[in-house]
Amino acid sequence: MPTTTTRIFNFSAGPAVMPEPVLERIREDVWDIDGSGIGVLEHSHRGPVIDRVFDEAIERCRRLAGLGDDHEVLFLQGGASMQFGMIPMNFLPEDATADYPDTGTWTTKAIKEARKFGNVNVAFDGSACGYDHCPSADELKTTADAAYFHYCSNNTIYGTRYATPPVSDAPLVCDASSEMFGRPWNHADHALVYAGAQKNLGPSGVALVIIRKDMLERSCRETIDLLDYRKHAAQGSRLNTPPVFGVYCMGLVFEWILEMGGLEGIATHNAAKAKTIYDAIDGSGGFYRGHAAAESRSEMNVTFRLPEESLEKTFVTDAKAAGMDGLKGHRSVGGIRASIYNAFPPAGCDALASFMSDFAAKHG
Ligand SMILES: Cc1ncc(COP(=O)(O)O)c(C=O)c1O
Repeated sequence: MPTTTTRIFNFSAGPAVMPEPVLERIREDVWDIDGSGIGVLEHSHRGPVIDRVFDEAIERCRRLAGLGDDHEVLFLQGGASMQFGMIPMNFLPEDATADYPDTGTWTTKAIKEARKFGNVNVAFDGSACGYDHCPSADELKTTADAAYFHYCSNNTIYGTRYATPPVSDAPLVCDASSEMFGRPWNHADHALVYAGAQKNLGPSGVALVIIRKDMLERSCRETIDLLDYRKHAAQGSRLNTPPVFGVYCMGLVFEWILEMGGLEGIATHNAAKAKTIYDAIDGSGGFYRGHAAAESRSEMNVTFRLPEESLEKTFVTDAKAAGMDGLKGHRSVGGIRASIYNAFPPAGCDALASFMSDFAAKHG
C-alpha cells in the first residue's frame, strides 16, 4: 500500500489531488463499506447502502451551497462537456438567444455547442485581450430577454476568474468545474451550476449539477431521457446505473470541506496558498510574468511565463526532479500552470515558491 511518504506535490489541472483523509477512507470502504461485507464498488445502486451514500452527498452539497428546496442536486455523466450540450438542448429554443461571455477555451467550446440549438450572443470576446481577464459589468453586452446567461467562473487554462458573480436579468448558468466549492458563491441565486468532479470534487466520470426547479419547467425540447434534466430529477439521478463511486467520493469531499470550515474556511486556506505563489511571481523582478490581470487572478490555477520557452521546459523538468509534478501549462497557451485546488497542501505552494526563487537566481 502506498503511504503519504511516496506522494509528491501534484499540480495537475485535473484529474487532480484529492484530500488525504478522503483517500484513506476510500481505501477502507473499497473493501467493506458500512460493515456490509461488500465494498463500495460492488453494491447495487438501488440498495440501502448506496441510498445512504446519495442522500448524504446531496445533504452535504445543499449545506455547502446554501440551497433550499427550490433546487435539485443531480449527479450526471459525460463530464462538464456534456453540460455544454445539455444546457442549450434543454433551455435554448431555436428562435431564442443566450448570452455567453467568452473567457477562454471552455466557454468557446460551450458556445460552439449552444449554436447547434439556438442563437448565441457572445457577450464579451476575451480573445481580443488573450483571455487575460474576466469581464467587468461595463464590458458585458447582454441581450434583452436572453434565455439564460452562461459563464465560466474560473478559467482553468488561462488562470483567470470572476472576482464576484456577474449580474444578469436572465437565469444565471455557471460552469464552476475548476473551482466548485473553492470559495463562497451565490449558488442559490443561480438557475444552474455545474462542475466536472475531477478538479475540486473527486474522480472523473461524474458531474455535479445544481438546478433550480423553475428552470426545469422551462425545458423547451423533447430529447432522449438521459439528456433530459427533468427525467434525472424525477429519478434521483438513478435513471440508469449512475457513477456510484464518483458520487460516493464527492460525498466524502463535501464532508471534508465542511470540516475545513465550509466555503469561508476553504476560501481562507486557498487565498493563502495562492498568495504564496503570486508573491513569488511579483517578487521576481520580472523573471516570472503572470498571465492573468491582477483583478482576475485565479486562486485555483496560477499561470505564468518565463523569459524563454526553453527555460520553461527546464523549469518543468527540474521541478519534477524536486518532487513537483504537473506544472506544464496547457498545450494551447504554454508556460507554467500550478493548479492548487482545495485539496492541494500549503506545503506544496511553499515548496514551489522556494523552487521558483532558486530557479530565478540561477537562470535570471
Ligand atoms: C472550466 C472547465 N469546464 C469544462 C471542462 C471540461 O470538463 P470535462 O472533461 O469533464 O468534460 C473543463 C476541463 O478541464 C474545465 O476546466
